[in-house]
Amino acid sequence: MTRFGVATSAFQVEGGHDADGRGPSTWDEFCTRPGAIKDGSDARVACDSYHRFAEDLALLVELGVGSYRFSIAWPRVQPAGAGPLNEPGLAYYDRVVDALLDKGICPFPTLYHWDLPLPLEEGGGWPARDTAMRFRDYATAVVARLGDRVGTWATMNEPWCTALLGHAAGVFAPGERDPARAYDAAHHLLLGHALAARALPDHDVGIVLNLTTVHREPDGDPQAADLVDAWQNRLWLDALVDGRYPDVLGLPRALRDGDLDVVRGSAAWLGINYYTPFRIGPPAAATGAVGQDVDAFPGAQPFSFAPRPPFTTMGWEVDPRGLVDVLQATAQRAPGVPLRVTENGGAFEDDADRITYLQGHLEALQASGVEVLDYFAWSLLDNFEWAQGYTQRFGLVSVEPGTLRRVPKGSFRWYQAFLARPR
Ligand code: FCB
Repeated sequence: MTRFGVATSAFQVEGGHDADGRGPSTWDEFCTRPGAIKDGSDARVACDSYHRFAEDLALLVELGVGSYRFSIAWPRVQPAGAGPLNEPGLAYYDRVVDALLDKGICPFPTLYHWDLPLPLEEGGGWPARDTAMRFRDYATAVVARLGDRVGTWATMNEPWCTALLGHAAGVFAPGERDPARAYDAAHHLLLGHALAARALPDHDVGIVLNLTTVHREPDGDPQAADLVDAWQNRLWLDALVDGRYPDVLGLPRALRDGDLDVVRGSAAWLGINYYTPFRIGPPAAATGAVGQDVDAFPGAQPFSFAPRPPFTTMGWEVDPRGLVDVLQATAQRAPGVPLRVTENGGAFEDDADRITYLQGHLEALQASGVEVLDYFAWSLLDNFEWAQGYTQRFGLVSVEPGTLRRVPKGSFRWYQAFLARPR
């Protein structure tokens, strides 16, 4: 039986950037760089969920979800990224967990959704090995506090984005363009996940990946298709399942003896965030759609993506079949590892399109018979969409600029009715 919920992440909704001892994250710094964020915005206030969680909770209850995926902000809990914990920050998540449980909603936390404490970024960030150790310690400390009530934990969210968009394409924090360091970052993200998972043997610890289908068009560049699949899918699954890296990528410089033994088998479950398929076109200049930046696939000669309509406002192709394909491929690649859909949703101006998107994906999932433990729609609220600022609306609920008043959309009512159906 699949449990259905909605997802958010700390940096995208919480705001309260300096409240109660929260320190800056790498994304706070990135937002200050001219041109980094499409609308020049930042997430200092965002949806102000740090101060308005009661409102969000009321929405979750009204919606009728079984679970809520949120993330814990490392810079709120441990502003230096090491050493003492910030008690008021931790207390916030304590209250969130208790409030959800009190309403019969399962708290589903992710420990790292991209908001690295700035001091750790300044100390070398994910390309530095020490960050993996710091993550293990932070994860252990959070679980020591909340683990009596929360059994299932996600370590990293979409490490591909942090590593490749952050360190190779430079379009996400920390805005670096150095493919070798990107691969080191990927390795340390996996290592950090695995060290945390191994330090928490009494918990159900998994990782969230943005795996996707890679189709080569008839005239598509085969080398590009192979590299896109390697960076996007195989890197993560080969390491987690078999303890190796794809031959075509070589090895990260940061790899040390024994690391891959730690990584292999470290995910008790896999979360898949699925939004869009990739279609690889002929060698050419890139189309440059968000999340499909060719620089995020080091080694590939310039090539084009060939997405097909319909598109979301992110420029992402809508393809419900891809959700099923990626789940089936992952089930084959990682036999016996339970799967969850940890994010799925679409950014649209017209809410009717959002309903069509969700309905299409949920119907495809249900018709496929593929077993997933959870499905989380992205997102409860319109929120800070990273480099796109507030220009992209993924929410079932809109958030009025200025007043931050929450207004449920038709898609909220649609999902509410879906959740209420007997199954
Ligand atoms: C995913 C992220 C999530 C959100 C969606 C649209 O890559 O995990 O935070 O921004 O995309």
